[in-house]
Amino acid sequence: MTNDDHHHNDRSGRRPVRVGLAGGSGFGRVHRANLARLAEQGSTRLVGVADPAGPPDDLEAGVGHFGSLTDLLAAEQPEVVIIATPIHTHAVLAEEAFRAGAHVYLEKPPVASMAEYDRLVAVAAETGLSCQIGFQALGSHALQRIADLVADGAIGEPRLITGLGVWSRDLAYFNRSPWSGRRRLDGHQVSDGVATNALAHSIAQALRIADVRALDQVKDVRTELYKANLDNESDDTTWIRVDSDGALPISVALTLCGPGNDQPPTVSVIGSEGRLDLQYTIDVLTVDRGGETERLEFDRDDLTENLLDHCADGAPLISPLTGHAPYMAVLEAIQAGDPLPLTDDVDVQGTGAQSHPVIKDIERWSRLAAESGEGFSAVGAPWADPVARSTWFPHR
Ligand SMILES: NC(=O)c1ccc[n+]([C@@H]2O[C@H](COP(=O)([O-])OP(=O)(O)OC[C@H]3O[C@@H](n4cnc5c(N)ncnc54)[C@H](O)[C@@H]3O)[C@@H](O)[C@H]2O)c1
Repeated sequence: MTNDDHHHNDRSGRRPVRVGLAGGSGFGRVHRANLARLAEQGSTRLVGVADPAGPPDDLEAGVGHFGSLTDLLAAEQPEVVIIATPIHTHAVLAEEAFRAGAHVYLEKPPVASMAEYDRLVAVAAETGLSCQIGFQALGSHALQRIADLVADGAIGEPRLITGLGVWSRDLAYFNRSPWSGRRRLDGHQVSDGVATNALAHSIAQALRIADVRALDQVKDVRTELYKANLDNESDDTTWIRVDSDGALPISVALTLCGPGNDQPPTVSVIGSEGRLDLQYTIDVLTVDRGGETERLEFDRDDLTENLLDHCADGAPLISPLTGHAPYMAVLEAIQAGDPLPLTDDVDVQGTGAQSHPVIKDIERWSRLAAESGEGFSAVGAPWADPVARSTWFPHR
């Protein structure tokens, strides 16, 4: 099967869609590379990049730079705006794009609070415009296979959905931008953290596998939050459990204090007779039917292309803003209490910008925390403390 066979629609014959980009450096570079690919197919034309820090040093020839999204919108009237800016600017920029009549591709996490989320959903509805959230791994074709395998009884009775992410991030990562490692900045909610930024996709994938798409499904969100990066406000080592009506429970353990040699994070479905493990950054699914394992590789749909197809002829959005209220419940739960600082069993390795804390045996404790369904302190991680746990309930 070629890549083109996966497209919902044939885009040939359409004129290029005028796209504006807010945030040209950082992750905006990934969007610019993707837009260059789409421009070659005649699907899009990048009409301007807005970035107050100045034009990216590798800005494509012929693409205008603007000091603000306001200026870009006024000068170029883009039909689609991609927002790849710091989390605390998402809500304001997305609303501005909607009010200027543009559809929006908004990077994850959608916004910095449930209040901002509710407001943005209302503005999208009022303006009748579409909003795709940049959880790009939701485009994976592995997700349908997981649903089919579970329905066919391949792993027996499904019991728990887990997520496991053990990455290492150094001081240079946290120092790259003023908002990094922060919960608040200059009076704005930022909500940066391991589960709301670097490994946020783990939560979004798990919620999608559980088919939890509406807030009224969520019964409660339990959290257990730590930080070994003592100068940060944000959690860097986190367990989350989501219990929902009519869905499998979700238990996820994530850390940025791993030993290095980062492996692709995994989201799994654990059943009575086997398990499914999806390495979601590389779309590799391992099927374990109770001993016999099989490794399957998948393609994925590109979320920008999906947004274009949605706007042109109504293809369903893969990652609509409106489906991410449960993700926002997790973000809100994490913000409800401060992470517990960790010093015991933490070894700071490297020096200067490369220095990074490593929590002893963190891979093992994270796996146990996730797969027990009960978190770090419940499985006896020596540095864990039940005071780091809390439970969040949605307001109904
Ligand atoms: N989908 C993914 O896998 C993925 C990966 C990395 C980052 N992200 C997301 O992308 C976003 C940006 O992250 P980053 O790490 O690149 O951040 P960053 O701070 O490194 O870079 C953001 C860019 O936005 C610019 N900017 C700041 N305020 C702006 C404004 N008001 N208008 C226009 N531009 C503005 C900055 O000057 C900078 O060039 C975040 O939401 C992040 O979570 C997503």
